[in-house]
Amino acid sequence: MHRKESSQPHKLHTSSFPRIFRYIVFISLSLSLFFFGLFNLNIITKHQESFKQHDNIYGENDSVSRTNFETFNTSSFKGHTYIELLQLESSWISTLDSNVPVTVIIIYPNNDQKDEDEEDNDRIIEKQLDAILSQTVKPESIWIITLVEQVNNINKLLQQKKLINNVQLYIKEIDNSDPFTYLKIVLQKVQTKYILLLNSGVILGNQYLQNMLHISNTKEYNDKLLGTMGMNFNNIPNEVDEIVSLTCYDDHISSYFTYSNDNMITYSRTSKRVDMLSNIWFLQKQWIPILFKENNKDLPLEFFISFTLRYNSNIPSIILPTFNRESWGDVSSVSIQTFTCDDLRRKFSTNIAWTHYIERGYPLIIKESFNQNKIMFILDGINQEKYFRSLYCKLSLISNNSINIITTGKDRGLDSSKLRKIIKKSSCGHINIYDLDIQTNSFETNILRNQVYEGVEHIIEYLKPEILIYAKITKNFIYQGISSAIKGFNNTVTSIELPLEEIEYVTELIIDLPFHSLKNWNEPKIQLQVITQNRPVSLSRLINSLNSSYYFGDDNVSLTVNIDGGADPVTMDFCSKFLWNHGSKNVRHRIVQGKLIPMVIESYYPNDYNDYGLLLDDDVEVSPFYYIWVKYSILKYRYGPDKSQRLFGISLYGQRYMELNMFGLGTKFPNRSPYLSQVPCSWSAVYFPEIWKEFHEYLIKRLDDEREIIVSNSKSSYKRKKSWKNYFIELIYLRGYVMLYPNFKNLTSFSTNHAKPVFDVPLMKEFTLYDELPNNHLPNFTELPVTDLWGNLTTFNDLINRGINLHNNISLSSSFQRII
Ligand SMILES: *[C@@H]1O[C@H](CO)[C@@H](O)[C@H](O)[C@H]1NC(C)=O
Ligand SMILES: *[C@@H]1O[C@H](CO)[C@@H](O)[C@H](O)[C@H]1NC(C)=O
Ligand SMILES: *[C@@H]1O[C@H](CO)[C@@H](O)[C@H](O)[C@H]1NC(C)=O
Ligand SMILES: *[C@@H]1O[C@H](CO)[C@@H](O)[C@H](O)[C@H]1NC(C)=O
Ligand SMILES: *[C@@H]1O[C@H](CO)[C@@H](O)[C@H](O)[C@H]1NC(C)=O
Ligand SMILES: *[C@@H]1O[C@H](CO)[C@@H](O)[C@H](O)[C@H]1NC(C)=O
Ligand SMILES: *[C@@H]1O[C@H](CO)[C@@H](O)[C@H](O)[C@H]1NC(C)=O
Ligand SMILES: *[C@@H]1O[C@H](CO)[C@@H](O)[C@H](O)[C@H]1NC(C)=O
Ligand SMILES: *[C@@H]1O[C@H](CO)[C@@H](O)[C@H](O)[C@H]1NC(C)=O
Ligand SMILES: *[C@@H]1O[C@H](CO)[C@@H](O)[C@H](O)[C@H]1NC(C)=O
Repeated sequence: MHRKESSQPHKLHTSSFPRIFRYIVFISLSLSLFFFGLFNLNIITKHQESFKQHDNIYGENDSVSRTNFETFNTSSFKGHTYIELLQLESSWISTLDSNVPVTVIIIYPNNDQKDEDEEDNDRIIEKQLDAILSQTVKPESIWIITLVEQVNNINKLLQQKKLINNVQLYIKEIDNSDPFTYLKIVLQKVQTKYILLLNSGVILGNQYLQNMLHISNTKEYNDKLLGTMGMNFNNIPNEVDEIVSLTCYDDHISSYFTYSNDNMITYSRTSKRVDMLSNIWFLQKQWIPILFKENNKDLPLEFFISFTLRYNSNIPSIILPTFNRESWGDVSSVSIQTFTCDDLRRKFSTNIAWTHYIERGYPLIIKESFNQNKIMFILDGINQEKYFRSLYCKLSLISNNSINIITTGKDRGLDSSKLRKIIKKSSCGHINIYDLDIQTNSFETNILRNQVYEGVEHIIEYLKPEILIYAKITKNFIYQGISSAIKGFNNTVTSIELPLEEIEYVTELIIDLPFHSLKNWNEPKIQLQVITQNRPVSLSRLINSLNSSYYFGDDNVSLTVNIDGGADPVTMDFCSKFLWNHGSKNVRHRIVQGKLIPMVIESYYPNDYNDYGLLLDDDVEVSPFYYIWVKYSILKYRYGPDKSQRLFGISLYGQRYMELNMFGLGTKFPNRSPYLSQVPCSWSAVYFPEIWKEFHEYLIKRLDDEREIIVSNSKSSYKRKKSWKNYFIELIYLRGYVMLYPNFKNLTSFSTNHAKPVFDVPLMKEFTLYDELPNNHLPNFTELPVTDLWGNLTTFNDLINRGINLHNNISLSSSFQRII
């Protein structure tokens, strides 16, 4: 026997629980006996009618209100009925003669329970012990953890019952800063694999332990915290004076209670995930150390155990259905759960620590969402919220999206309750909110950063977002904390970091892109390849326009200036001096001026299949929105479900002559639809890596070959000239490749060419991208008009057939097979 002297005088909380208990026992004894019979009958016959009059008792599939933050797909955790549970394959084999590896621990009295009427309590503990001793399997140890002043009484009882050597008694120290000190004893002294923790007053049915062992040794349940009573939160209070409401699950339909309407008690005929277990916990000893990871010991035991195991080790709490009296967790005539439930509700209004946990959104962590596109935002303060509002709100209205928002807390200007109010007013869809509650009273940025880091890390671990969207403010410790947390998840979370002022431009794009494209937000890398020689004024105009464009947080846009042989000193000087902040800057210089194969072809060669080259002549100027056009098209047509192998690039401007003869009346295409064309735009277009590589291979072989290939249709033809562009056209024709072109009003484009009048088109200076697209977004690839080298509308089939024909013609007469 272990005894510890409590060093401090202690004062216990008084609670009305025991009084009510007795009171209700009194008045309800006969009533409850009556109901007992009825409910038993009900379980067997599955008749519901008899209970209609008791509004507060609901069968599982009756109108149990849905929790407003309950996001998990209930059908994903397949519940089992009692019979199904016992039929599950279990590795536990009952042996009659040996003890089972379980330590049964009675907490007597419960933390907040103190009854002056000790005689009454003695009788209860005696019944509890009897119930444990008459289990169909015998636990290896039985403990009672109690207060120092109870020790004599209990010893007396144990002596009377000749149990003094069978039951170990531990003293619970009263320490107001840590009411769970006894867990340390449990941690140190328990020798068995399992622990059955019981609240005082719980009288087990005699098969309880046997059932628990069976179920916890099945593959379905061996990693779950088990019990037969529990509760779910119905809401997170929106207003300070709003009360939390709980749905309580009793372990059998039994008794009588005196509940108000918003406090529901019910029974589940199948096993079920719950937010908290109550009264009985079937735990594994190896989980005890996890309970020490959570510091806030002001929490009620029920929330503390379930939350801590779930938050720190992803162990969910499950209640199991019972069947007959033998399987019940509590056979007393008046269900203990009704009192626990009422007690917790009361506690909620007074327990500030707990209220704060709930308000911050902790229950979210114990919920799960399945089969949804999980997108998480982190909003630091009220200003950021305004910038992101339209985006998160619209995303939340898209079906299959699950939106979670993390706030940084009151000290930073926006906490969860404030955000809940904003969301309510903005008629968004369902949004889960979680509050990191960063305490900014420290002046040490490291400490602050670490708070963010740990909070975000945990949330990502539990909510498992696939996409995380937040403000890109690199000097901010919040940003730094988030960035380092994300690094720990390697590439499993896509981070979309956006400068606040640029969010308005990408809002529609993010809403429009398929989820799969969004997940690839950071995949495409654009390298800018500028070709110049001796036009420093034009060059600096181009560089300035590139420099002042929007990049939406992408900071890996490399810029290479390729200076041809014969460049002037002003150009040379400018190139070596200008600053490029959006990625790396490189300058290359040729000694001999490029002739046959101009340097443009060799300027870009992909590092990998996400490495795109934007080729720019120095007489070009770009629109501040050129990058969004490129990124949007690439994500849409290359990284979504809608991707095409035939697209070889994206032009920044529309061709004048194409506009003239493309969409006459009678075509099914919207007037301003971007279109696909076989014509390559050579001076301001993005080229795709695999096709550029293929072109290099083609060119190597083609340059060795003296024969003429005429890409021709009926009238006009592209004849062989010694120009890279015409070689490229050969490849395009043979393969049926196309380039994407914008087609805005008045030829508004993302680049203009000041040297070539035919390409001198107006730049998009005002942001009209979405306004000008058909239905305000890029059409699906298959809905884009396809045109050939002559600007005539055609189909992919036709383009491909033409290529095959030409291919066959060449192959008949030459060794071209090798090339193509
Ligand atoms: C409740 O569930 C039972 C069995 O699953 C079913 O037969 C019954 O129709 C359900 N009742 C309601 C009201 O949905
Ligand atoms: C829930 O999951 C099941 C099976 O996993 C699926 O059939 C059902 O469509 C899902 N429901 C929702 C709302 O996601
Ligand atoms: C919802 O999202 C999930 C996960 O991304 C996906 O597997 C599922 O097919 C989507 N369902 C619908 C109806 O789009
Ligand atoms: C990330 O990668 C490192 C090294 O490959 C690995 O040790 C770590 O477990 C990974 N983290 C996650 C969350 O996958
Ligand atoms: C930038 O892109 C290059 C080429 O794709 C890559 O090697 C490099 O790691 C990237 N740098 C950053 C900071 O993402
Ligand atoms: C680009 O802009 C930054 C400031 O935004 C400036 O420091 C830099 O000099 C500019 N570079 C050029 C080439 O204009
Ligand atoms: C169309 O573009 C030309 C320049 O190419 C410009 O002069 C003209 O003002 C534009 N018209 C409209 C209606 O924007
Ligand atoms: C475009 O493609 C998506 C996904 O492939 C599809 O859901 C949508 O209906 C398509 N839009 C049209 C207008 O066909
Ligand atoms: C293009 O279409 C026009 C009629 O719209 C036709 O006259 C011309 O022959 C076509 N060109 C080619 C190369 O098919
Ligand atoms: C193939 O060759 C024949 C005969 O030389 C010619 O009439 C035909 O136009 C060629 N086809 C293509 C697609 O060039």
